[in-house]
Amino acid sequence: MCVNLWLNFLSPVASLQKKLAFQMKTILTESTSEAAKFIKQGGIVAFPTETVYGLGANIFDVEAIGKIFIAKNRPNDNPLIAHVGNLEQIKLLVSEITTTAQKFIKVFFPAPLTLVLPKSEKVPLIATANLETIGVRMPRNKLASEFLKSCGTPLVAPSANLSGKPSPTTWEAVFEDLDGRIDCILQGETTEIGLESTVVDCTSDVPLVLRSGAVTLEQLREIVPETRVYQIKKDEMPKSPGLKHRHYSPRAKIVLLSQKSKVQSPKSKAFIGFDKPDFKFDKMKICESVEDYAHEVFNFFRECDRENIETIYCEMVEEKGIGAALMDRLKRASDD
Ligand code: TXA
Ligand code: MG
Repeated sequence: MCVNLWLNFLSPVASLQKKLAFQMKTILTESTSEAAKFIKQGGIVAFPTETVYGLGANIFDVEAIGKIFIAKNRPNDNPLIAHVGNLEQIKLLVSEITTTAQKFIKVFFPAPLTLVLPKSEKVPLIATANLETIGVRMPRNKLASEFLKSCGTPLVAPSANLSGKPSPTTWEAVFEDLDGRIDCILQGETTEIGLESTVVDCTSDVPLVLRSGAVTLEQLREIVPETRVYQIKKDEMPKSPGLKHRHYSPRAKIVLLSQKSKVQSPKSKAFIGFDKPDFKFDKMKICESVEDYAHEVFNFFRECDRENIETIYCEMVEEKGIGAALMDRLKRASDD
């Protein structure tokens, strides 16, 4: 990449790094219009969506986007997702809405689904980490769409956690990670789904699922049967830069359990899954369904960290429907 381009991209982040001492007062509010004021003044605001809480900035405000990377400690090669409050706004962000994307938008939006498309020139490169594509999503959560409407502009929003930690499913989890580092938290309820959106690259005729989520491969194939799951080839740059980074991890060690007989005896251990294990655990979460497991898992990881649990045993689930997304997150969290 040309050196000047890199310098242009990094300079807002570098100069801001000096300005932000992370002692700002983080305002908590239930008012979407109060939260939107911070966006209009160039600030960064956490807000609920149906997947996880996001950390938003005006997509056309380069300095505000720089603040997101700093507040989260996010590697600057990891692109951000654009969030829109209505379908019209998509046209501001992309140079083309491909035929496959049109089909997905018609059937699913608003949804926990992010479509990667060629970006418009108006979107600053800092938002997409220098990629010529942008992920676009229209959340279906009521508070999120009210907030986006109050902002009057599309927002970029990664998950509102410190980089590498589990995504936040409650405003309290956002507060735990980002108090003093961001301007405002829009307080909503615990998020409905609990795992991040499905990300689909729609830049070619064969849609590629880059990250699994609540909109499942099966559902996408009903609309575009050619849809495939993206597999990283050896020595290839991953299509989704986020795939390279350690993700969703609590401090505790994660062990995936197919048979309970594998349970060792660390000092403090926790269990999450369906069947009450015979073995004694210090902390347990018994889930009623795969949906319930997906809904609870990140919060459970955070609770375990607060209670200094050393090892979390996670029952494995069948990789179909939302189970595919859940297993993806569990596998990543268990990677060393
Ligand atoms: O549900 C969600 O998607 C949440 C809420 C807040 O909307 N957001 C979220 O954002 O999970 P983030 O930044 O934590 O994860 C975005 C993922 C990353 O893995 C990133 O690499 C990938 O999407 N991504 C973003 N833009 C991309 C692009 N243009 N091409 C390929 N991958 C992209
Ligand atoms: Mg994230």
